[in-house]
Order: sequence, then structure tokens, then C-alpha cells
Amino acid sequence: MGNLRAILIASFASTIALQICLIQATFSDSSDGVELMLNKSGGTGIRSTISYMYGSITMGIKLPSGNSAGTVTTFYLSSTGDKHDEIDFEFLGNVTGEPYTIHTNIYTQGFGQREQQFKPWFDPSDGYHYYTIFWNFYEVVNYNDSEINYPDSQPMKAYSSFWNADDWATQGGRVKTNWTLAPFRADLQTYWTEACYCSDEGCVKRCSDKNPKNWWTKPKFKKLNGRQNKQMQEIRDNYMIYNYCTDVHRFNGDFPKECSLAQY
Ligand SMILES: *[C@@H]1O[C@H](CO)[C@@H](O)[C@H](O)[C@H]1NC(C)=O
Ligand SMILES: *[C@@H]1O[C@H](CO)[C@@H](O)[C@H](O)[C@H]1NC(C)=O
Ligand SMILES: *[C@@H]1O[C@H](CO)[C@@H](O)[C@H](O)[C@H]1NC(C)=O
Ligand SMILES: *[C@@H]1O[C@H](CO)[C@@H](O)[C@H](O)[C@H]1NC(C)=O
Repeated sequence: MGNLRAILIASFASTIALQICLIQATFSDSSDGVELMLNKSGGTGIRSTISYMYGSITMGIKLPSGNSAGTVTTFYLSSTGDKHDEIDFEFLGNVTGEPYTIHTNIYTQGFGQREQQFKPWFDPSDGYHYYTIFWNFYEVVNYNDSEINYPDSQPMKAYSSFWNADDWATQGGRVKTNWTLAPFRADLQTYWTEACYCSDEGCVKRCSDKNPKNWWTKPKFKKLNGRQNKQMQEIRDNYMIYNYCTDVHRFNGDFPKECSLAQY
């Protein structure tokens, strides 16, 4: 199933650009995968040993099929500390026959509240689908004066986890995990990474230098291209089920600054 591909969308007000990224790597169908298990005693997770600053990180994920209500599978990048940066994908399980929810969020300097949600336009449990987080620094340059925090100073590690969140995840917490079905299992394929290793002093600057080796600094990655833009628009039109930038009640009309800027 290694060739099943999903274009991953994590459109954040692209000031904080998570971009659609078409996967170009070849994945092997080898058995170098990881199983994440979840039972009543707890879930599981993995974390990269390496920290990254900019670039592209991909995870192959096969979500549990059937009744996955109450479970949450995640793939995210995060730094540590009170003022951490984080870029998230969360897959919220559902009862048999009802769709998963793809939930995205971004934290900058410890502050999140930038959720967006999508219905998947594919079955995320019918094999491995590949999800990419692409991260570069351009928008921070463009929006330097707008006082929007941007994840441009802290290297992040990659994480994936599988856990129980039946107090909120499925249909607002109304549907609980059915433990008679445990253990639940999510499969991961070791991720493919073309990102800047960053663990030494000065690596943030090194990873931001505009040189050909730092491919994410190329001007073509400043914005989505025409085709990607069209895909993004289609997905937003047809599959987006929540956008913090349109949640009037939540912000009392006083939306976060990036909501009024050009997105992706
Ligand atoms: C849950 O899984 C862990 C790890 O595989 C195992 O040690 C434990 O006994 C399991 N607990 C239950 C309640 O099945
Ligand atoms: C960004 O803004 C800061 C503070 O206003 C300023 O010192 C800096 O020169 C600006 N950088 C760029 C690239 O515009
Ligand atoms: C589960 O299915 C229901 C009904 O289709 C839907 O409203 C909900 O958004 C789905 N996802 C979750 C995580 O509850
Ligand atoms: C939990 O799953 C079992 C096995 O499929 C089923 O018999 C039972 O009715 C389910 N419980 C609930 C509350 O849906």
C-alpha cells in the first residue's frame, strides 16, 4: 500500500505557512514500520532523536479502521519549554462508517488556538497515507511588521502518538472509546525527512541561510504555486469543517491578526 498518497493539507493562515506538499520521495514497502498500540492502560508515541529547523518531514500513517471512536493519532513537530512552537496534525477517530476528523493547529511562543479541521477526502485507514509538514521562514519576512509570532527561532523534534481522548475527540466527547475492541493499533512508516538538522549553537542561522543546500529557502517556496493554490481552495471549499478564523463567537469578532492577511 506504499503508493497510496494523500496530499496533506495543513493550511494555517499561511503566514504561518504549512503548505501543501506533494511527496516526491519513494517509499519502500519494507517492514521498517512502527506500531503504536492503545489500550485501557495507555497509549504510545515516538519522537525523533534529532531536532530540525525548516524543511520537509513526512510520516506514513495507517489509522485504525472500523470503530476508532475516542482515539487520537498525532503527527507533529514541537520544541520544548513554556514558549514552545508546535505544528500539529491530529486524527480524531470515529464510529464505524463515519469520517475521521483531521485537526490542525500551530503554536508559536506557547500560544495556540489556531485550529482548523477537515473531513478527509480519502479513507485514512485503508493503507498508508503520507502526511507532510513543510516549514520555512518566508512569511515571517513578509509579515515582520505585523507582530505575528512565527516559529522561526526554535528547532523542533518530530513526534507521533496514539492516545485516548474520549472526553472530547469524537462527536464532542459524546462517543466513548469501546475498550472491548482494544488493543487499537495505528501503523507508521518511518518518516522521510529532508530538513535541516539543528542541535548546535548557531544552527538556526545556518538553516536559514539562503544557499542552494537549504532548498526550502528557494523563492518558489514563498507561496503555494497555482496548482497547489487551486487544490487548497478546493479542499477548503469542500472539506473544511472548522476554521478558527471564521469563529465569530470564540473571538468575539476580534480575530487573530493573521486571519485578515492573505493566506497561502
Ligand atoms: C496494555 O498494553 C500494555 C503494553 O502492551 C500491556 O503491558 C498491558 O498489560 C495492557 N493492558 C491491558 C489492560 O490490556
Ligand atoms: C523586523 O522588525 C524589527 C522590529 O521592528 C526590525 O528591527 C527589523 O529590522 C525588521 N526586519 C526586517 C527583515 O524587516
Ligand atoms: C464523526 O462523524 C460525525 C457524523 O458524521 C461527524 O459529525 C464528526 O465530525 C465526525 N468526527 C468526529 C471526530 O467526531
Ligand atoms: C463495543 O464493541 C463490541 C464488540 O464489537 C460490541 O459488541 C458492543 O456493543 C460495543 N459497545 C458499545 C457501547 O457500542
